[in-house]
Amino acid sequence: MASRVDRVAVYPGTFDPLTNGHVDIIRRGSALFDRIVVAILVNPEKSPLFTVEERVEMTRAVFKTQPGVEVDTFQGLLVDYAKKQEADVIVRGLRAISDFEYEMEMALMNRRLSPTIETVLMMPAESYTYLSSRLVKEIFALGGSIRGLVPDVVEACLEKKASGDKHHYA
Ligand code: PNS
Repeated sequence: MASRVDRVAVYPGTFDPLTNGHVDIIRRGSALFDRIVVAILVNPEKSPLFTVEERVEMTRAVFKTQPGVEVDTFQGLLVDYAKKQEADVIVRGLRAISDFEYEMEMALMNRRLSPTIETVLMMPAESYTYLSSRLVKEIFALGGSIRGLVPDVVEACLEKKASGDKHHYA
């Protein structure tokens, strides 16, 4: 009988912060792959709201009961990181046609860099198609409700950040 090889996927992104749309994609991905690694980009050029450590901690808190979901950080080329993780798939969420051009560009460039790694674009639940980290931050900053748009732990962290507190999320 042929031996079964674990299917590993990497789900890369900025996740500043993790939204329920991201959570939806991770859940769908974890049903398809033995291991899905949520890979948070360390990007010194961007000035994120949450530090990488805070984003890792929040994401781990959300998936702490799901052994197939791992959370990590990466720097440099995504395809190099995927190889390091022995992943043959890159998962990305596709919310609308407006995402398509950017995702297609990245998928084809990543394929050129590493032809054996496939990009799998996954559609979130319809209710998350208009949801983005950018809008969550904007709505929160302007005093609107973000209930249901982000996991509870992320909402609590946004509130703590707004009140200037340091907080642990697990
Ligand atoms: O959540 P984002 O900001 O849309 O994620 C973008 C991300 C992290 C997937 C992309 O910027 C990336 O892969 N960066 C790593 C550097 C790299 O490999 N660049 C070439 C991609 S074609």
